[in-house]
Parts: sequence; structure tokens; C-alpha cells
Amino acid sequence: MRDDLLDQHLFPVRPDFTAEQQAINRREWLEDLWHRQLSNPDTYMLKAVPTSLAPRAQNDAENCEIIAFACWVYDPREANETAGENHRAASSDSKRAPGVVEDALGVAVPKGMSSTLFRSCTTQLEAIKSAALQRFQNCDVYHLTMLATHPCHLRQGIASRLFQWGIDRADAEGAVIYLEATDVGLGLYQGWGSEIIESGRVELEGGGKRVCMVRRPRESWEI
Ligand SMILES: CC(C)(COP(=O)(O)OP(=O)(O)OC[C@H]1O[C@@H](n2cnc3c(N)ncnc32)[C@H](O)[C@@H]1OP(=O)(O)O)[C@@H](O)C(=O)NCCC(=O)NCCS
Repeated sequence: MRDDLLDQHLFPVRPDFTAEQQAINRREWLEDLWHRQLSNPDTYMLKAVPTSLAPRAQNDAENCEIIAFACWVYDPREANETAGENHRAASSDSKRAPGVVEDALGVAVPKGMSSTLFRSCTTQLEAIKSAALQRFQNCDVYHLTMLATHPCHLRQGIASRLFQWGIDRADAEGAVIYLEATDVGLGLYQGWGSEIIESGRVELEGGGKRVCMVRRPRESWEI
């Protein structure tokens, strides 16, 4: 979900950090975040790997080539209210990677990143999500937080497969899907029945753009 203009503001050029160091810090931050997310039983991290690999190699975390991945977070309705607190609690318990620091509110950020801007963007998006899900008070939620395909493997239906994983679950459980799309992913999500919410085209501070979408539980569709 890269956004070049927003990136430039989130990672301003600083005399004390080279672009290379910024990239390392950012990578360490993402790895730290994903490791912590993986310890949450409601987080599903999916990876797509080449089918040419033997099954054993496909599970070799160190050496296997990942050609696409998705992160789904299951949010049972009764847990929605405390999700932010859980996230903060989970993120404050163990040692950080060297490129990661905690900001004044205890939120982990890569060293050198503007945490004020980061927080402003996440707060804005959280408010939109919360308002959008008001309509689905009785539904569990599957939140697609990340989806990306390696540039060498685009337009082969790989991201669609990872998205369909969430659709199958949501349909089986009568759950709603929520996501914040970039322009490039919009067609894919709309093709699978996701709709842009009212006021869902969001201009983030710093120049980023997101399109907030929901896919209503299938039983509520009028066919
Ligand atoms: C968005 C993204 C994940 C799509 O990945 P992908 O693996 O190429 O996705 P798919 O192949 O399933 O579908 C992409 C398009 O290819 C089309 N497609 C799927 N299979 C195809 C095939 N065999 N031949 C030709 N086109 C195909 C799909 O219909 C879709 O078309 P659309 O964009 O007009 O809707 C990828 O562009 C990406 O990683 N972008 C950067 C990160 C990002 O923005 N992620 C989304 C954040 S919400």
C-alpha cells in the first residue's frame, strides 16, 4: 500500500538518516509489527509462493520466495470497542528492533518517521472505519489490512485469490469486510462486491489517498 507523496512526508530527508537507513528502519518496523500481529490468533497472514517449489520449501520461512501476501484481521463484534487498547497493550510487551522506537504515546514507529503525521493518518482512518461499521452493529468484521503482489507477478489473479480467502470466510460467517484501498486495488475489490462507503474517498494529511470500502454480508445483498 505504498503512497509516494505520503511517504515523502512520513520519511522526511534528515541529515542524521540516509535514505538507505530509513529503508532499513522501515523494514525492521514492518517485521516487528508483523511478528507481533502473528501472535494474535485473530490475525491471518497469507502468503502466495511459487507452486513449482516442493511443499517443504514452500514452508521455509527464511528462503522461500513470497510472490504475494495478505493480512486479514478478524474483529468479532464484541471486541471492536477494545481493539485499539489491545493493539497498544500487545505492542508494548517485548524488545524492539534497533530501527524501531516508541513515540510519546507508546506507539511503535520506525526511527526517523514523522510519528505526528502517522498518528494523524491512522486516527483519521480509524474514525472513518468506526463510522462505517456502525451500520453493521451485529456483524463480525474481517479487515483486510494489507494486500500486495510482487511486481513480477501482477495480473495473474494472485491477489484475487488472497482476497477470495476473506470473502469465503465472511460469506460463511455472515461477516462484513472492511478495507482501505489504494487506487490501484480499487477495481479488484469492486469486482468482488466491495462498495465505496459514503465520504470514503479520503485525502490524508501529507498527500496520501485511500478509498474506504465495505463488502456487505452476502445475505444482505439484493439479487
Ligand atoms: C493491487 C494489487 C495487490 C493487485 O495484485 P494482482 O496480483 O495483480 O491482482 P490480480 O491479478 O488478482 O488482479 C489485478 C487485475 O488483473 C486482472 N487479472 C486477474 N487475472 C488476470 C489474468 N490472468 N490476465 C489478465 N488480467 C488478469 C484482474 O481482473 C484485475 O483487473 P482490474 O485491476 O482491472 O480489476 C497489486 O497491484 C499491488 O500489490 N499493488 C501495490 C500494493 C497495493 O496497492 N495494494 C493494494 C492496497 S489496497
